[in-house]
This record gives sequence, structure tokens and C-alpha cells, in this order.
Amino acid sequence: MRNPYKLTYHIEPERGLLNDPNGLIWFKGTYYFFHQWNRFDTNHSYKEWGLFTSTNMIDWTNQNTAILPDRHWDRNGVYSGSGIEHEDEMYLFYTGNVKNNGGRKSYQCVSKSVNGQTFVKEEKVIETPTAFTEHFRDPKVWRGSDRWWMIVGAQTKERKGAVALFSSGDLSDWTYENILYDQQLDNMCECPDLFSLNDRTDILVCCPQVIPEEEGATGITSYAAFLSGKFNEQTKQFKPNGSLALIDYGFDFYAPQTFTDHKGRRIMVGWMSRMSEEEEQLCPTKKYGYIHCLTLPRVITWENDRLIQLPIEEVKQLRKTENTFTSRLGDFELDSGRFELELRREDSTSDFYLSLRNGAIEIRYIGEKNEFSITRENWVSHTRETKVNEIQNLSQMSLYSDSSTIEVFVNNGECVFSSRYFTEEHQLRVEYQGLQHNGKLKYYSI
Ligand code: FRU
Repeated sequence: MRNPYKLTYHIEPERGLLNDPNGLIWFKGTYYFFHQWNRFDTNHSYKEWGLFTSTNMIDWTNQNTAILPDRHWDRNGVYSGSGIEHEDEMYLFYTGNVKNNGGRKSYQCVSKSVNGQTFVKEEKVIETPTAFTEHFRDPKVWRGSDRWWMIVGAQTKERKGAVALFSSGDLSDWTYENILYDQQLDNMCECPDLFSLNDRTDILVCCPQVIPEEEGATGITSYAAFLSGKFNEQTKQFKPNGSLALIDYGFDFYAPQTFTDHKGRRIMVGWMSRMSEEEEQLCPTKKYGYIHCLTLPRVITWENDRLIQLPIEEVKQLRKTENTFTSRLGDFELDSGRFELELRREDSTSDFYLSLRNGAIEIRYIGEKNEFSITRENWVSHTRETKVNEIQNLSQMSLYSDSSTIEVFVNNGECVFSSRYFTEEHQLRVEYQGLQHNGKLKYYSI
């Protein structure tokens, strides 16, 4: 059966369900991208760590299983976590999930590897401190100035979202310090991350889960957000500069994680899904036996008080053919659903419109309203839905499509929209309006 949705330059499983990126690391000459994986089914009933490796983040080898739920402290799931290198060893910190009689218990655990192939679990685990419920997971570890730090996504006994801070001198004995941050984090906060982008700017990433207040409501909504500010290693607090902001404005982005590579880049990868249960159940890839994928790796920097996200430069290697369009409006046929488009305009305040793949995706900039939007057809309701963000002008845009994914980087990475979309393979028509004088639209097939 030919699969029109198959990705060629993003990580997706051959079978089963993939969710969060885990343990991202550059280790002894290889990139390791672990991920949450149910290899048995396209639902969330089972979780282990799967693994993809690469030397260039373009060509990936699927290594399949890396860490299995085979201990009493992780028997109902090897949940998300992170990786670091210390004395030539890879340390993978994860959450062991245990369910008993409708209850839940969480343990923060470690598995180590010297060769990136065999992973050996330590017997010692971290118990949840008494201030928190067992919604306590997703350890992220990094080296501080004189010790190791770990943050864990948490819920306090008062049912508030929080980020818990631990420290260690040896990566083995961990001391619970305090709540690092707990404002605006709703009921629970998943997948925290904390890193510096320059001497003055640290970024705290977290995924707050909002549980609706109304009686009987079952849905949980959650989103990936960040705060800029400063982590003080003495007071052990994170002092934010502003309030929580979305990392990505598209339909599908969650549980991002960052790491630094040997080139010194801070790279972020997200799970390219924020589907509802219904959307997951009806997701068109399920008939091919798998669901979900990761985003392109993005380099993140802090410039003029903004988080800038741009795809790793390595993706430029994928360009096959190049065409440039300069007329004010036009249309053309793509070679396939895999392509890159780059827009540049001098008149950045006028309107712009782009219809991709016979309207499966529409991108609009309305200058008067400072409004940038992306529209797709929802595969459950079959209605069109739109995500919007306020953007002062549109001077540049890079857009990557991989058959059924789209990632739009606006104004050299000031704002990103990541989404899945599902359309027929032969829908390859592009139409655009609003290039104005000296505007350019470049099309690269991939
Ligand atoms: C986020 C998350 C994590 C958890 C993992 C389980 O998507 O819920 O908090 O560790 O997925 O698969």
C-alpha cells in the first residue's frame, strides 16, 4: 500500500506510536535521539524508549528499542527524560511509571551506557518528595558551576503545577532542594527544561496542563511554553523577566527538549503533535500502522529580547532543484509534497497569501491587522481551522513541507508554526499573491 504521508527528512516510527523526544545528546561522534515509543500499538498503553542515531541529523538509522519497562520501578512505562555525558559515559535520566489499583507512583531513574548500544539501569531511584503528588516526571539534568542540577515536572499537593529542583555532586545521590518555579503553571507541568542562551538570559521551558474546571469535563489541554529570566544557583530560584509565552504557534508542537552539540549549538526538537484523542484515533497514518513524528531540529538563540528558532543549516543539503518567482502573483506545480519555500519581501507591511497543495494549507498575512495565520482542514471535523499570531511585518519566511508536515519560520525565526496536514499525493498546486516589487519566492524541491 503506497503511503502518501510518509516522511523522508523527519523522524517517525516504522510502527506504533512515537511521542516526546528524550535523551537528546551528541555522544562520541553520533547524535542520539531517543523518544517515547509504543512499539505494539498506535495508542498510549505502553511506553519504552526507542532510538534513532545519526552523524549529521539528516540521515537517521532506526535502532529500535533502547530502554524497556522491565523493572518493578518502571514496569508501567519508561517515561520521558534527558541525557548527559560524564567521564565518557552516557547517563539517561527517565521517569519510571508504576500503576497500582488506579493509583500511580513515579520514580526518577538512570540508565547508563559506554557505547550507546547497551544501556544498564542503576538500582537506585529518586522517590517523590512529600510536597508533591505522584504527577512527578520528566527529569532534565545539566552541569552547573559546581554541581549537577536536575529539574522535574511536578504537581504540588495543592494541585498546582511546579518545577522541582534537585542537586547532586556525583550524579548518584540527589538532594531535593526546593520548588524552582511555580507561577502560571496550572495543574501540572510536564517536560521542563532550563538552559542559558547568553550570560544574562536563561530559558525555562515547560508544558503546563490545564484541567478544565467544569463538572464532567474530561479534556486536558496543554501547551509548550517558555519564560526568559535568570536561574540563580545560590538562591536556587528562577526569576522570570516576563510571562509565559508559546514556543510554537502551529497546531502540533509539544514536549520539546534541547541539548548542545559539538558545534556549540543549542538545538531544540519537539514532538510534532498536539492532537486530541479523537484526532489521534482518526489520524490518517494509523492505517499504515504508525502515528506521530518529531520536528526538524532547530537552533535556538536569544536576539533583541526574542527567542529565535531556525532549522539546522544541514537541512539545506536536501535541496534538489531551485526555482525563483518574482511576479506579484502566480502559481506553479510542486514536484512532490517534500519541498522548501523561501519568501523575501522589501515591502513587508502589505498583505501576502499562499495556498499550498491545492489549498490543503493556506498562509495569510494581513498587514493592516498585523496578523499572520495558517489554515488547514481538520481530518476529524472536515472543517477548516486557523492558528493566528500577531506579527508586525512579514519580510521573510522559510517553510518546510515533508508530505504531511509543515513548519513555517517567520521573519528569520522570530515565530514558528508547526503542523501536520493530510492531503492526496497528487495535490501539488501552489498559488501566491502579494510579492510586490523586489519580492522573491524561492522554491526548492526536496
Ligand atoms: C508528555 C508526557 C510526559 C510523559 C510522557 C509519557 O507528552 O505526558 O509527561 O513522561 O509523555 O509518554
